[in-house]
Amino acid sequence: QQPTIIDDVQESDGSARVSSTNSRRVYIFDTTLRDGEQSPGVSLNLSEKIQIARQLALLGVDIIEAGFPIASTGDFEAVRGIAREVRGVAVAGLARANFKDIDRAWEALKEAEQPRIHTFLATSPIHMRYKLQMEPDKVLEMAVEAVKYAKKFTSDVEFSAEDGSRSDLDFLSRVVEAVIKAGATTVNIPDTVGYAMPQEYGNFIRSLMERVPNIDQAVVSVHCHNDLGLAVANSLAAVQNGVRQVEGAINGIGERAGNAAIEEIVMALRTRKDFIGLNTNINTEEIYRTSKLVSKLTGMIVQANKAIVGKNAFAHESGIHQDGVLKERSTYEIMNPAMIGINQDNLVLGKHSGRHAFRKRLGDLGYELSEAELNKAFVRFKDLADKKKNITDRDLEAIVEEETRSH
Ligand code: KIV
Ligand code: ZN
Repeated sequence: QQPTIIDDVQESDGSARVSSTNSRRVYIFDTTLRDGEQSPGVSLNLSEKIQIARQLALLGVDIIEAGFPIASTGDFEAVRGIAREVRGVAVAGLARANFKDIDRAWEALKEAEQPRIHTFLATSPIHMRYKLQMEPDKVLEMAVEAVKYAKKFTSDVEFSAEDGSRSDLDFLSRVVEAVIKAGATTVNIPDTVGYAMPQEYGNFIRSLMERVPNIDQAVVSVHCHNDLGLAVANSLAAVQNGVRQVEGAINGIGERAGNAAIEEIVMALRTRKDFIGLNTNINTEEIYRTSKLVSKLTGMIVQANKAIVGKNAFAHESGIHQDGVLKERSTYEIMNPAMIGINQDNLVLGKHSGRHAFRKRLGDLGYELSEAELNKAFVRFKDLADKKKNITDRDLEAIVEEETRSH
């Protein structure tokens, strides 16, 4: 049985986004502030989280997962602050499948324009047996009760079957069918431990969608971790098999090896639209700025050769490549850096440039320096401009990073 074909539908309250393999739109669920913040060593304060959430709204993500309200007072306040202040995007709060978590999530979310309660429970044999110590039937019952309870507060309820990719397909199908019947409008099948292989995961998702008779009443979602470096590949395999929401984090940050990198998924969908044929609502020109902001506020450095946003992603070192790019860009560049918001060719800054232009360009790159930092960075810039004719954005980044590191 094929999933029913319904085109992209969004209710006026934002709740019943209906997915089907024929819908051309992929919803982007950003969990930078929840799973991303679970990166070891990362801790963002309220104003930093609000700054990131505002930038995510500009980027055009469909849902911001702002935190896990019951986890700490800081998380609760961040979810409440974002729910109050950030508009034009759905705001989700995470809750385990129990009434206390859901109450707390709702308390934090209730002022959001489009509040989403995201409740989760593990469905794999290994998690049910060792972590939950619960029989499968009890898990199914709890999942249904949690969704029904969350539904009393908001029409937009997501259920995640934690460790979904290692779950038994028959049991998972029963859970998915039951939570949709209970009112879940999004059903997420995470690859929690980053174990899946792309083709295997794609087939698993397709089989699941074929088995669940009411699947067309919810958006099917995936949430992939990067333990084997396959989070993006797995997410793309899932969308090619019918999934219409993808979860991930900017720069791929998150638990252990991280989550699927949103910028990579979005640019793969955009660059290979000829092959995959799906759209997102992302304003890709905001990608670079968002990446810089997240890196700066989390302290998680982006590796130089990281796809899309790494320092070397558009750098051509070898003579043959440079020659090719100068003759015709598409010889060695599959994306125009401007699409991502990288003004690589903007070489306007040089030794004659003033502080104003300097400050403006740094602002465009996502840096907000104090007056004292700006003065010092400007001196370094002038020094460099005396030695080098063209000052690129990369040079400016190096100047600011050196300046901030030296303090
Ligand atoms: O990795 C995971 O399974 C999660 C869920 C809570 C969605 O983060
Ligand atoms: Zn996760």
